[in-house]
Amino acid sequence: MLKDLVIKNRSYRRFYQDRAVTCGQLKELINIGRLTASGANRQSVRYILSYESQKNEDIFQCLRWAGYLEDWDGPEEGEKPAAYIVMLEPVGVNAPHDEGIIGQTILLAATEQGLGGCFLANIDRIMLRDILHLEEKYDIKLVIALGYPKEEVVLEEISETDNIKYYRDTKKVHHVPKIKLEDLILNC
Ligand SMILES: Cc1cc2nc3c(=O)[nH]c(=O)nc-3n(C[C@H](O)[C@H](O)[C@H](O)COP(=O)(O)O)c2cc1C
Repeated sequence: MLKDLVIKNRSYRRFYQDRAVTCGQLKELINIGRLTASGANRQSVRYILSYESQKNEDIFQCLRWAGYLEDWDGPEEGEKPAAYIVMLEPVGVNAPHDEGIIGQTILLAATEQGLGGCFLANIDRIMLRDILHLEEKYDIKLVIALGYPKEEVVLEEISETDNIKYYRDTKKVHHVPKIKLEDLILNC
């Protein structure tokens, strides 16, 4: 069921770093993502793939992980992502929702294949641009980190007035509060 896939598709931040994700796997994810809706059907998002250790490490240095977990600086060696998809858009193009729609589709497809991932918007874009030797004509929109998940993530039902910050318990299980349905729909 789609709902089960959506529940399984959490933001994973710890991975089996040694389990490779291939270029072919990444291409197939984008092959699925490219079929989604697109504002005015412009399809302006472009991609840079990373699946080799040195490039992965370079990209990793540009990313900021889990801001609510103040005592955690991000995945340690051995638990870092095995691959990345960097999502780009030409400077000046105004298609603000496309990368989210594509990105979520990519993550759902990845989850279906046993992978897991995480969106990253908190990026040192100047450093990443430099590392990727990115042409001036592109902006960096999002990075999707991917790999085989090495952590358990569970959802917690909350009211809209409760704390929305995710947290980790003593067994390193990651808990993500989600606001209950009744608090979200305003008219019934
Ligand atoms: C657009 C977007 C940007 C995000 N950027 C980051 C980020 O820079 N670093 C990070 O660790 N998580 C990032 N996340 C992951 C969110 O923190 C995560 O979606 C949220 O905590 C809810 O967890 P869930 O995805 O498991 O439901 C981002 C998510 C989205 C949708």
